[in-house]
Amino acid sequence: MELGETKTTLLINAAMSAVGFAICMSIIPKFKDMFIKANLFGVDMSKTTKKKVPEALGVVCGAVFLMILFLFIPIPFYKHLAENNNDFPHDKYVEYLAALLSICCMVFLGFADDVLDLRWRHKLLLPTMASLPLLMVYFVNFNSTTIIVPHPLRFLLGFDLNLGILYYVYMGMLAVFCTNAINILAGVNGLEVGQSWVIGISVLIFNFIELSGEQRAAHIFSSYFMMPFISVTTALLYYNWYPSQVFVGDTFCYFAGMTFAVVAILGHFSKTMLLFFIPQILNFIYSVPQLFRFVPCPRHRLPKFNSSTDKLELSITKFKYQELSILGKLFITIYKTFGVIKVWEKKGEDKQYMECNNFTLINLIIRFLGPLHERTLVSIIIVFQIFCSMVAFTIRYQLALLFYDKLS
Ligand code: UD1
Ligand code: MG
Repeated sequence: MELGETKTTLLINAAMSAVGFAICMSIIPKFKDMFIKANLFGVDMSKTTKKKVPEALGVVCGAVFLMILFLFIPIPFYKHLAENNNDFPHDKYVEYLAALLSICCMVFLGFADDVLDLRWRHKLLLPTMASLPLLMVYFVNFNSTTIIVPHPLRFLLGFDLNLGILYYVYMGMLAVFCTNAINILAGVNGLEVGQSWVIGISVLIFNFIELSGEQRAAHIFSSYFMMPFISVTTALLYYNWYPSQVFVGDTFCYFAGMTFAVVAILGHFSKTMLLFFIPQILNFIYSVPQLFRFVPCPRHRLPKFNSSTDKLELSITKFKYQELSILGKLFITIYKTFGVIKVWEKKGEDKQYMECNNFTLINLIIRFLGPLHERTLVSIIIVFQIFCSMVAFTIRYQLALLFYDKLS
């Protein structure tokens, strides 16, 4: 595509995204009562009022996002349609459709999760299934499973390495990671959407920088998805920010995660995408003992609301230390040694019990800064996410040169 043409299609996409933003701003409040009537609501656990807050409003954003991209389909392909010649880029078209199919599946499955409250094993299975259409297209269009080995490992592995099927496993796992990592960094107003908003903008900036690079087509493709994503997310953030008028549900987390996975896979920038997920990766690593049940994991790990101070405090998990597995005991010892958890040894009748804070990044911040007001807490995490994006850009454009000959 020529430069002028690219600019026009990107501008049309931006204009459609702006309309999408306006639509979301207007319809989200209108859907509130309908969701509550359909029993789709939650109670905000960090407020004194126990009123019903509509849940899963992410589905409205997902639907508007999909509609924008469906209506946008003819735009990048109009030239080939109008001239009625035989050079229609079927491979690009299928890529576009498969990307939409994967995201569409994920919105649907996320909504099913919100309605049915699925179990953890389903949360791993769903994104894997939803990523299959995408992996199939990757197989047909690229099937490039060779990676460039970083300098320090070349003496061992050579210049490049064909990962074969493992590369597909990696891409499937990327989809599982992106969707769930956002979902478990949650529980304070505005956090799920706020983090996705920062990641979305970071990806778009990265795409724009790379428009002049070798992988231009891939970054144009990614921008087509990121602009509508950012616009619908901005509207949702407006309503989900403290004090939340609506909750976004797992629908939104899955929708956001899958959109990121899709553009990273088809745009060949999964490593850079993972750099934008630094807070989520830290939260995931810190959470591992609870996610894999080495240490008991309550249904909710969000911080505990203290109504007398209007602040959020550490939330706690209580267990019998002696009943933990060897790994469980080892994790507690390591975390205690590094001071990243607060432990309460019980006395008297409760002596066999031990209490410690839940292993989430949110609790870790409270552990170091003390109890915080919800709005302050979410702002700190969003600022941290922005800071991590800056670190990501520095690594991508400066440090990467130490490991690779040229940036790709
Ligand atoms: C994930 C977390 C869980 C956390 C929950 C909060 C893990 C393994 N799971 O579970 O620890 O408590 O997200 O979203 O880490 N809620 C609020 N305020 C908010 C957002 C949510 O009170 O700002 C509450 C509401 O009651 C809402 C519920 O959380 O209805 C939604 O939780 P859900 O998304 O179903 O939890 P999970 O994603 O399963
Ligand atoms: Mg959730």
